[in-house]
Amino acid sequence: MFFDHLELAPADPILGLTDTFKADTNPNKINLGVGVYQNENAVTPVLKCVKEAEKILLETEQSKSYLPISGLPEYGRFTRELIFGKDSPLVDDGRAVTCHTPGGTGAIRIAADFLYQQHVTQRVWISDPTWGNHFQIVEAAGLKTERYPYYDRVNHSLAFERMLDTLEQASEGDAVILHGCCHNPTGIDPTPEQWDELAAFLAKKKLLPIVDFAYQGFGNGLEEDAYGLRKIVELNSEVIICSSFSKNFGMYNERVGALTCVGANKEAGTKALSQIKLAIRCAISNPPAHGEKVIITVLSNPELRKMWEDELAEMRERMHRMRLLLADKLKEKDAGDFDFITKQNGMFSFSGLSKEQVETLRAGYGIYIVGSGRICVAGINDNNIEYLANAIANVVSH
Ligand code: LMR
Repeated sequence: MFFDHLELAPADPILGLTDTFKADTNPNKINLGVGVYQNENAVTPVLKCVKEAEKILLETEQSKSYLPISGLPEYGRFTRELIFGKDSPLVDDGRAVTCHTPGGTGAIRIAADFLYQQHVTQRVWISDPTWGNHFQIVEAAGLKTERYPYYDRVNHSLAFERMLDTLEQASEGDAVILHGCCHNPTGIDPTPEQWDELAAFLAKKKLLPIVDFAYQGFGNGLEEDAYGLRKIVELNSEVIICSSFSKNFGMYNERVGALTCVGANKEAGTKALSQIKLAIRCAISNPPAHGEKVIITVLSNPELRKMWEDELAEMRERMHRMRLLLADKLKEKDAGDFDFITKQNGMFSFSGLSKEQVETLRAGYGIYIVGSGRICVAGINDNNIEYLANAIANVVSH
């Protein structure tokens, strides 16, 4: 028998939680697990700009034939405009090359495959804590991983000195994954001054920065959120960027992400692109088309682009408001000092709740939070905040 020896694998700590949530019959249940936006009615809507673009595509699309291995050139160009800024020379000068990947996860996997297969690096440093999937993706590609401290649990802040002290031990040629903004799971990002220092540090140590940039626009704005990435690119001649439109376009299930590789010059970019295309051909042959065509349609049409930026701002502002509301309500319920939540960025809040408290919230209240204590603030709304704050207050006082 071939499969007899198989053990049952544990459910995914994030996506598995959604399955358990769906099966829960508690009428008060709240999903604060997976990083998916929900509006005030706890619904994950299709953005209006996306619907409009889909109508256009329905009318105009002529063929479902394969896309190029790297995706459509316009998609790569729009991706570079967003991440580097419209006026950056990297948009068009050929040093930076972009391929469509299935989501940000696909970008990280293809990047890791490329780095391993082409012997670019052997070791990747990853923040502790980080998005649960980073370690397994990088290791599945064959690379070794190391951890660097990121979060100061006592002060609920960035452990910047410890982070740099640990990265001091990295060897020339190692790679480092950094979260470009809205760090997952802590919601704590470096300040602009810290980004400046970090970018210079990476260049001095000759480490390869891999920027995981999945939440552009969810922190402080499209341009503001790119500060760290742009500083890294300014001071480092070679950089990998794994970006995603899953969150900022709400196109989670269309798997729209991108891998951008910045080489030292145009020739290096061209060679890197040829090798990344080989990695893509081996993994998925060529990318899915619908999502990237929607992105191109929205970003090339001034009216739809404006609609997108407005909808993005609405999501960002709602999440920010819910973050403030949660901290306020917890104070009102005497649950302790949760003010630190208001200083975190983006979709996630690192609550400091223990594994046991998270389990009690699930079993006793139907409130679903990732085991690390990470709360997706987008799941909070004016209707469930009272129930949520009461439950957390009960759990922390026991
Ligand atoms: C998350 O962190 O919840 C999201 O990025 C979804 C995922 O794939 O884990």
